Order: sequence, then C-alpha cells, then structure tokens
Amino acid sequence: MSEERNQGAAETQELREAARSLAGTGKPMLEAEHVQLYFPVKKGILVDRTIGHVHAVDDCSIALREGETLGIVGESGCGKSTFARCMVRLLEPTAGVIRFRGTDITHLGRRKLEPIHREAQLVFQDPVSSLNPRKRVGQIVGTPMKLHGVKGQNGVEDRVRELLGRVGLNPEHINRFPHEFSGGQRQRIGVARALAVDPRLIVLDEPVSALDVSIQAQVINLLDDLQDDFGLSYVFIAHDLSVVRHVSDRIGVMYLGKIVELSPAKELYTKPIHPYTQALLGAIPIPDPEENRARERVVVGGEPPNPVDPPTGCRFHTRCPHATDICKQVEPPLAEYPGGHLAACHHPQNVTEEEVTNAGRSPLSPLVAGGLLPNGKEVPVPQADTNGAGGGLAARLKRIAPG
Ligand SMILES: Nc1ncnc2c1ncn2[C@@H]1O[C@H](COP(=O)(O)OP(=O)(O)OP(=O)(O)O)[C@@H](O)[C@H]1O
Ligand code: SF4
Ligand SMILES: [Mg+2]
Repeated sequence: MSEERNQGAAETQELREAARSLAGTGKPMLEAEHVQLYFPVKKGILVDRTIGHVHAVDDCSIALREGETLGIVGESGCGKSTFARCMVRLLEPTAGVIRFRGTDITHLGRRKLEPIHREAQLVFQDPVSSLNPRKRVGQIVGTPMKLHGVKGQNGVEDRVRELLGRVGLNPEHINRFPHEFSGGQRQRIGVARALAVDPRLIVLDEPVSALDVSIQAQVINLLDDLQDDFGLSYVFIAHDLSVVRHVSDRIGVMYLGKIVELSPAKELYTKPIHPYTQALLGAIPIPDPEENRARERVVVGGEPPNPVDPPTGCRFHTRCPHATDICKQVEPPLAEYPGGHLAACHHPQNVTEEEVTNAGRSPLSPLVAGGLLPNGKEVPVPQADTNGAGGGLAARLKRIAPG
C-alpha cells in the first residue's frame, strides 16, 4: 500500500516537473536587465557627505516566465533582498530595466505602480517585523484588499477567513494579534496577505529561513499547492540550496551583488560549474555519515569581502581554491553552456572540453564583465545604449561610482 502511495507521489512529482519545464516556455512575467542598486555610504556630523557606495546589486539580469519558479540563493549580504525589492519596485534601481508582463516599470511613480503592486507581491523576509503588532490579522490581510479595491464575493471579512483557511490557519483567529501566533503561522499570515489581492507573481524573500525544518516542509508544500491552484509565478529566495532544490525550475546563484551561475535546477545540482555553487552544495548536510565523509567538498574560507570596495576581476577570487592571475584582473563574463546553463568563471568545473570550446557570451552577462571566454576566445563587450538595458549604464556607472 505504502509502495503504491510512494509510486503515486513520484508520478505526481514527475508530472509537476514536466508541467514546470513546459512553463519555462511561457510568456515573460518579469524581466530584470542589468539591474544595479548602489546604496550611498554617508559620513559627517553637520553635513552628510557620500564617501562610497554599497554595491548591493551590480548588473544582475533574470527573466521569469509565467508559472515558473526561479530560486535565488547566496550567502547573507550578497544582495538577495535588495534585488527582490527592485523586482517588485519597492526600490528604484540605480541603473538597468525592470519589465513586468512586458511593461517597463523601472521608473514608474507611486500612482502608476499601484496596479503593478496588486499583481506583483512581496512576502517579506522577517515574519515578525513585517506584520504590524498593533493590528489584528483580519486588518493585516484585509487592508491590501481595501486599498486595491478587491471586494471578494461575500465581502472582505469572508474572503479573509477563506484565505486564512487556505494557508492552514484557523479562520476563527481573525481577531488575534501577530504575537499570538508562532513563527510558521506568522509566515502563513504573510502569504495570506500577499494572496489577498489575487497576484500573478509573488517574490518570496526567504519565506522559510526562520522556521524549523519540519515547519519549513509544511510551508514549502503549501506554497507549491497554492502555485498550482492560483497559477502563480514565484521568485523564491533562500541562502541555502537545499531549500530551493525541490521548488525551483531554475536557480540563480548570487555572490557579492552578482549572479555567478544561472541554470535549470536539476542541472545545477548534478553539474555545478562555478566553484562558489560547488561550495554551497558541499554545505548541504547528507543524512548518511559515511556518504557525508566520502564526498568531495569545495571549502570556502574567510568572510565575504566588503561590498563597498569589492575585489577586482572575479569577486570570488579572494576565497576561490581555483583562482589564478586572470581571475584577479578580469571579471569573467557569464558564458553559455548547453541546456541553458550560464556561469561566470575563467576555470569552469564539471564541463567537457567540447562544452568549453563551444561556450559563448550570454546577453545576461554584466556589461562591465570582460570579453574573455574560458575557451580563450575574446569576444566584444556590448556597449550600453542610451535607454533600456544598460541604457547609458557605463556612463551612469561612472557618474555614481565613488570618486
Ligand atoms: N538601506 C540600505 N542602506 C545601505 N546599505 C544597505 C541597505 N540595505 C541593504 N544594504 C547593504 O546591501 C547589501 C545587500 O543587502 P541585502 O539585505 O540585499 O542582502 P541579503 O542577501 O538579502 O542578506 P540576508 O541573507 O542577510 O538577508 C549588504 O551589504 C547590506 O548591508
Ligand atoms: S573566475 Fe577564478 S576566482 Fe572566480 S570562481 Fe572562477 S576560478 Fe574562482
Ligand atoms: Mg535578505
């Protein structure tokens, strides 16, 4: 009986995977092209002087299709939340372009963003600080509905109760305050609030990182079911590759403000090309101690460098076990390998000679990256145009760069 159930579950999983890979060919939901966000660093007692910039997101590009889940991973401080806020235009990027369902939303004002914010929601990283402690759950979930004019068939309260039930909370708890819920339950309130306005896209900023492993699985399963039921597209952010493994169609790996690898999920786990991705994979514990001891690991030492003054060339060179002189001097472009697998590394791992020979420069590659591919070919670096992707990026970079 349990064997039958397992087989059934495996088949369902296979069907989901097949459906998801098809979704990859759907219409573009969200496009971020060469997005950059630098935060000014100020100093001074009477007059604030800008003494530098935090390079939080530096020339990152992604494209998300309808119904797709894109995972984004990287260690703390690499720019995941900042990129997430740019995607839904809670922050205005310093440069680059954000398109939502084909519309350029990069510099839209508050009014024009209202309908966009109804369709593109963000679930915040911290379930404690993102819920107003003085408001009852009914108000927290119901207010966005009122703001966006979503009435629900039988009124707002009925719809809120329905949503609470849908995310696995007791609808009778509609009058409780956030502190009366556990961490996992608060995260569910955040999800219910995002769902309240019938969005098409939800950017989930570390939705399960603050939760126990058993609760993590419950919330991930819930998100998976909601995606199927409501036809949602997700950007799923985590700092741990084990979390995004089962939910993502594709995964982007970020390091110090840059996307260093972007690949279909399965391919990333079986064939990581960038040494940083290998290190992230090596950090996932394997339950069998013998297997755990036997596997080869790439260990990265030290702390991430300062994002105010990132290293020259490849930003990972100060911690990379494969670094050579070229890594210190030239930023590697994102090179395209078979199967839609992109990686920015001068010494790619897990690729055949033939794959390296045939590699090309991806259009998603940072505009400031060099033109030297791992196959030794030097390709021209695209020049920024005056509007749109990288529009005037080189000029703008010069303008805002420290000094
Ligand atoms: N408002 C801000 N002003 C100045 N610097 C900021 C601001 N917000 C974020 N940063 C800096 O930008 C960088 C990226 O921060 P961000 O929160 O996006 O990282 P993250 O990858 O989400 O990290 P975590 O996993 O810890 O949530 C960090 O160095 C952070 O200190
Ligand atoms: S380019 Fe060099 S330093 Fe960067 S990840 Fe590759 S081998 Fe390491
Ligand atoms: Mg964050």
